[in-house]
Amino acid sequence: MTTERLEDIAVAMVADGKGILAADESSGTIKKRFDSIQVESTADTRRDYREMLFRADDAMKNYISGVILYDETLRQKAVDGTPLAELIKAAGSIPGIKVDAGAKDLPNFPGESITEGLDGLRERLQEYYGLGARFAKWRGVIAISDGLPTWGAVKQNAQALARYAALCQEAGIVPIVEPEVLMDGKPGDHSIDRCYDVTEWVLKTVFTELYDARVSLEGMILKPNMVIDGKNARKASVEEVAEKTVRCLKATVPASVPGIAFLSGGQSDEEATAHLSAMNSAYDMPWKLTFSYGRALQAAALKAWGGKTENVAAGQRAFAHRARMNSMAAAGTWKTDLEKAA
Ligand code: 13P
Repeated sequence: MTTERLEDIAVAMVADGKGILAADESSGTIKKRFDSIQVESTADTRRDYREMLFRADDAMKNYISGVILYDETLRQKAVDGTPLAELIKAAGSIPGIKVDAGAKDLPNFPGESITEGLDGLRERLQEYYGLGARFAKWRGVIAISDGLPTWGAVKQNAQALARYAALCQEAGIVPIVEPEVLMDGKPGDHSIDRCYDVTEWVLKTVFTELYDARVSLEGMILKPNMVIDGKNARKASVEEVAEKTVRCLKATVPASVPGIAFLSGGQSDEEATAHLSAMNSAYDMPWKLTFSYGRALQAAALKAWGGKTENVAAGQRAFAHRARMNSMAAAGTWKTDLEKAA
């Protein structure tokens, strides 16, 4: 059925100096982003915004290996009638698709969530393959507070991730496995060491479940949070975040996984870049370490665009700059001065 090997797609997703653009905001989330620039969220404005990003040739060709899309976007056409997925492919990048149906309250576990979307997933994946998607994303969400997370929530989210990953591979689609330990949950005042412990626990559990579900680790990408203190208690230095994140990943992620692509999770654009660069410049690692940022790749572009046709070039320049900075971070060669120079 499939011609491309999962391993080859996964390796291409973490090619040298490239990373993933997470543009898979659900309709609710993109509305919040558009509210911040006072633009109404309609199918057409969402299309215009994303078309602007995917037509940013310099960024897409040189720095972006793949784009995670939302269901609506994978079915949308550019103004000239070209499917948006074709624009991505024409730039040498791979279209991907968010397939989870969001994190919902987990019964019996107040304050915790379970990600839904397994029912009918086999059929949806077949359709997405036909529409050109070659990788997928599923995000499990783990919140930290005094008594959380619980084992029940960690285990159930890990099991859902594993079943999702197995279904993806059956369909010839590379799963991005994303267990996000929140940095900006409530109260968001936890220490970096608490984040380390929870992330280690979560990743160990996820890889146990992936093994039990017979998922091929060579044909997947991990999308974790960095090990970092809560948003309302930020104290750790760039070096400390880099050291603890790499140590935690080495303790939990098998070397057969080809690549790890971080989420940005509410870090500022420059923090997300600095942390990734510090890891790649100072440590030898068995896997590629790159970015799969949403907010940290798009925030500046969204603002520069502001919903106006005459700002498309400015939006594309802002996106290209952030993409280039993160490409350098993936190579471990980013420096603060490069931000100022721009
Ligand atoms: P952020 O980088 O904005 O956290 O988004 C990445 C993502 O895909 C979250 O699921």
